[in-house]
Amino acid sequence: MAKYIHGYIPEEQERLLDQAGVLAPLIYPWIDFSECNHVLEIGSGVGAQSHILLSLYPDIELSCVEIEKKQVKKAKHNLTQFIDRKIHFLNQDASKLELKKEVDGVFVCWVLEHLSDPLAVLSKAFENLSREGVIFLTEVFNSSFHYYPQLPGLSKYYKVFNDYQRSLGGDPDVGLKLGNLLKEAGFSNIELHRGGFHLDQTQPHELQKICTYWKGLMKSGAEAIIEEGLISREEVLEMEQDLDKITKHPEGVLYYQFIQAKAKKP
Ligand SMILES: C[S@@+](CC[C@H](N)C(=O)[O-])C[C@H]1O[C@@H](n2cnc3c(N)ncnc32)[C@H](O)[C@@H]1O
Repeated sequence: MAKYIHGYIPEEQERLLDQAGVLAPLIYPWIDFSECNHVLEIGSGVGAQSHILLSLYPDIELSCVEIEKKQVKKAKHNLTQFIDRKIHFLNQDASKLELKKEVDGVFVCWVLEHLSDPLAVLSKAFENLSREGVIFLTEVFNSSFHYYPQLPGLSKYYKVFNDYQRSLGGDPDVGLKLGNLLKEAGFSNIELHRGGFHLDQTQPHELQKICTYWKGLMKSGAEAIIEEGLISREEVLEMEQDLDKITKHPEGVLYYQFIQAKAKKP
């Protein structure tokens, strides 16, 4: 696989589990696979979202497609409690996806931002979905990130992080494009939804929780960015300190929107 901003070290694999837990209350209320028998999860990573899907939908069969072997191995480990469920782990590139049978649901979360050709993956999802099948996507819109007070360490790091993602062929604003991409892939009944957070000192615990989560997300790119010589260890620390300042500042604000999309195969 091409270079991947988050990497596959154990800390990152653990972060994906934390991330899924912290963001689940924001993501899942809009998602509904209750009419589905067999859901395909694209870019299933270490099984963090698979765990939630299997818990929310106790009757579904789940096919997890993941390009990186290390993630598949970890996902198998993380999902051992579902040993009696029908789960298939497919170590494949989703842009060349081959399934033995059609599915009636597709789930994609935090994956398309890493791809130079997200349409190829959506087209494969379309191909492998039955008629009337549904797809749910949750993706980043990183330009929506705002915070207060202005902090140069965080500001610089965020720019470098997103520029690096673009230099790898990814798109940190891919969420904005979900509707058009789904349309181009052949889907119909496309609906878009904005999710995210707007936190300040009226919710200090939530503000602190999400600042801590955000620190982990930012740090997940640190080793790659340092290795490329784009940022120093001191600047990573400065970014972390700036996020701590937001939690303590009487006028601290953290704002971010991700985009969700739902569509059907006609
Ligand atoms: C940020 S992680 C998200 C994992 C999971 N969806 C979650 O929310 O916990 C993105 C995952 O997509 C995988 N991925 C990237 N490109 C892929 C491709 N072409 N086919 C399948 N998986 C891919 C990566 O290896 C990584 O595990």
